[in-house]
Amino acid sequence: MATRKKIGLIGAGNIGGELARLVANQELGDVVLFDIPAKENFAKGKALDLEQNSSVLGYDSSITGSSNWADLAGADVLIITAGIPRKPGQSRDDLVAINMPIIRDVANNAKKHCPNAFVIVISNPLDAMVYEYMRVVGAPKAKVVGMAGVLDSARFQLFLAREAGVSIKDVRAMVLGGHGDDMVPVLSMCTINGVPVTNFISKEKINAIIERTRKGGGEIVNLMGTSAYYAPASSAVAMAAAYLLDQKRLLPCATYLDGEYGYKDLFMGVPVIIGGNGVEKIIEVPLTEEEKGMLKKSAASVQSVLDVVKKG
Ligand code: NAD
Ligand code: LAC
Repeated sequence: MATRKKIGLIGAGNIGGELARLVANQELGDVVLFDIPAKENFAKGKALDLEQNSSVLGYDSSITGSSNWADLAGADVLIITAGIPRKPGQSRDDLVAINMPIIRDVANNAKKHCPNAFVIVISNPLDAMVYEYMRVVGAPKAKVVGMAGVLDSARFQLFLAREAGVSIKDVRAMVLGGHGDDMVPVLSMCTINGVPVTNFISKEKINAIIERTRKGGGEIVNLMGTSAYYAPASSAVAMAAAYLLDQKRLLPCATYLDGEYGYKDLFMGVPVIIGGNGVEKIIEVPLTEEEKGMLKKSAASVQSVLDVVKKG
């Protein structure tokens, strides 16, 4: 009888393939790489390639491709990338009409086959898609999160490290709010191994880095013609590992707010503790008045897309 965890990856595309590689290589569990029937052979081929990769790298996780939801039965974790990515010139919000029915299809199937999974949604527009997923499945708020803040914070940290001329290992920075162009890089919490980042970088340069972070997804879409996938996959796997290994990680994740930070009935990126019970605690950090104003603006952007979903 299989004793390894089962990790379902819903969407075998760019991010899905990298998710499978990372999950298997870290031996977090056995992988089911799932896609629609028209892409079943594509998913199976990608899974077989990754299985053959295990012979070289030495990981024992199995990877199977499928388009049959029965193969997801009892999955411990689902990571959802089902949906189309942006093309140059598109905003994440432009994807809602196409991706909303897709996320509803996924949610209805997950409700039937693996209702108790810890679910990480990646599909855009992220904050609205993760809300709709939880609404359809009716899952507890501790078991459904969206991946965006870890990625946006990673971008912020990279740009700060390069400008300050320090190791990426020592930069701590957090981006909160919605996964959109008005996301909230929290400057008051940025340090380089505890030293405020303002000791290293001028305010003008920091402002430029904040703007580059906000547009970080679009910068890559304009370069590649599609969305990023390496850093998004690593970000989601860090969240999945925190759950599977009960790591009690403090990570910025799109989480259902029920009064925290003054917001109710919407998902937005805030610091949370992820452990074996899922979202175990929402951390309310002190924000400057300017940061509170930015969070309010970001929440309004999230709500506007959510209103479209609720009407759909
Ligand atoms: P992709 O097109 O490479 O892969 C998406 C896959 O989903 C495709 O293989 C497609 O066949 C599959 N799919 C479509 N409908 C499905 C369904 N009903 N069930 C299962 N699979 C289905 O796209 P990608 O680059 O992997 O990006 C996936 C999503 O992630 C996009 O919406 C993109 O905007 C989003 N994204 C989010 C973040 C973030 O920070 N949250 C970052 C990057 C990309
Ligand atoms: C990103 C987008 C596309 O890469 O969500 O941030």
